[in-house]
Amino acid sequence: MRKIKLSLLIITMLILRINSQTTINLHVDQAKTKINKEIYGQFAEHLGNCIYGGIWVGQHSDIPNINGYRADVLQALKELHIPVLRWPGGCFADEYHWMDGIGPTDKRPKMVNTNWGGVTEDNSFGTNEFLNLCEMLGCEPYISGNVGSGTVKELAQWIEYMTSDSDNPMAQLRRQNGREKPWKVKYIGVGNESWGCGGNMTPDYYSDLFRRYSTYCREYNGNHLFKIASGASDYDYNWTETLMKDVGTRMNGLSLHYYTVKGWNGSKGSATDFDLQDYYWTMEKCLEIKDVIKKHMAIMDKYDPHKNVGLMVDEWGTWWDQEPGTHPGFLYQQNTLRDAFVAALTLNIFNEYTERIKMANIAQVVNVLQSMILTKGDKMVLTPTYYVFDMYKVHQDALNIPIDIQCDSIDTGNRKIPSVSASASKDNKGIIHITLANILPDKNQKTIISLPIKMKGQPTGTILTADKINSFNSFEHPNSVVPAKFNRMIKKDKQLIIDLPAKSILAIEISLEN
Ligand code: AHR
Repeated sequence: MRKIKLSLLIITMLILRINSQTTINLHVDQAKTKINKEIYGQFAEHLGNCIYGGIWVGQHSDIPNINGYRADVLQALKELHIPVLRWPGGCFADEYHWMDGIGPTDKRPKMVNTNWGGVTEDNSFGTNEFLNLCEMLGCEPYISGNVGSGTVKELAQWIEYMTSDSDNPMAQLRRQNGREKPWKVKYIGVGNESWGCGGNMTPDYYSDLFRRYSTYCREYNGNHLFKIASGASDYDYNWTETLMKDVGTRMNGLSLHYYTVKGWNGSKGSATDFDLQDYYWTMEKCLEIKDVIKKHMAIMDKYDPHKNVGLMVDEWGTWWDQEPGTHPGFLYQQNTLRDAFVAALTLNIFNEYTERIKMANIAQVVNVLQSMILTKGDKMVLTPTYYVFDMYKVHQDALNIPIDIQCDSIDTGNRKIPSVSASASKDNKGIIHITLANILPDKNQKTIISLPIKMKGQPTGTILTADKINSFNSFEHPNSVVPAKFNRMIKKDKQLIIDLPAKSILAIEISLEN
């Protein structure tokens, strides 16, 4: 008892010594909107070693596998409770012909992956392999259809192959390929980046194509389709305006792509070797997504005030130079504590706009861009971003709690950004989850969280931090950035006072008195 009292005293003294202060009010009584679990979605493209080597090694591989899927990656992904997985692209999707990826593996034709490195794609991972993976992960599949170079018939038949249980040619073909019962497929993307790699179309032309292709996306045997139109990139508000005007509620979702990237030409900067100025630029650029989504949502509100069409941020995350010595077309990058902040800040923003944002898919799940997992031969390492998704999964399908936050701001030279980001939710057991990120690299923050009623028991916490903002997990040192238990917090009446460490991401769990 004396020991506990002494450590409480030490924690209190430590907290009082901190000079930076953040206050957060939680409006628990206003928790009404569900945080769509699909906001925690992932993306897997036939790009570099995302599928081949990352997820799929084939049954004859020396790497331990379950029916061809890497056992270690599968297990790690299961832990994340992935709600939805987008496939097969990306740019790859608009050159993918699904019939090349079904049937006996040795009979499948090969193709050149023109978008990503010009490598040979042997189609050994196709529709059956993807949908079976989703079943193993317990997630919704999100099929990205080929509009750029595929036909209406091809897309219509793909849906028939996957979801029809009737006596028709595609369902028969599926049965011949060993799958008797159809899969459930909810999300269908009608093209990808149709303004660019998906066909270089104008929004008017694409709107017509969306209407045409989606007409033949039929619903079989009670399988309800959620049809997603290819949306804008970043600041292309005209694309959103045209689609909302010309397509409107014929689509169920409209996508948006936003990368934290320095630009598309020239160097994007090193993933691991960066200075404080780069770090603050990254925080500023990732926080800018809030302004961008608000502008797209304002346009959507004009045409769809009842929010029937979802905004689907189906590609987001950091994009750095590929790791030295790796294939330039493979987009393989390391992942530091800085990337973890991008994930934490972005997810906190998505949680807030859950009335309109129905899905988001970080790019990409394994070995590509801001990935959850990196692999090298039979080795696997979990990235700092993986741990953010793990700590934040408690928000999935919980009720968003509106918050007020007052904190110091940081002048980046360009604009002022808040030093603390936060989000809160209440799950179906009534437990409150708060996720916080202190982006200041060198200053702890005394953080006071005010609640409407007293807390029951002791709050628990998990923290993600590291020695440096560019610390990362390598195959040699896989535990440089890993979560740890956190207890530097004290209860005081209806307040929780936290000593939020510099450069840290924190997840707290609180129960309230009845
Ligand atoms: O995620 C990598 C690529 O970025 C995708 O293929 C494309 O849609 C986007 O430009």
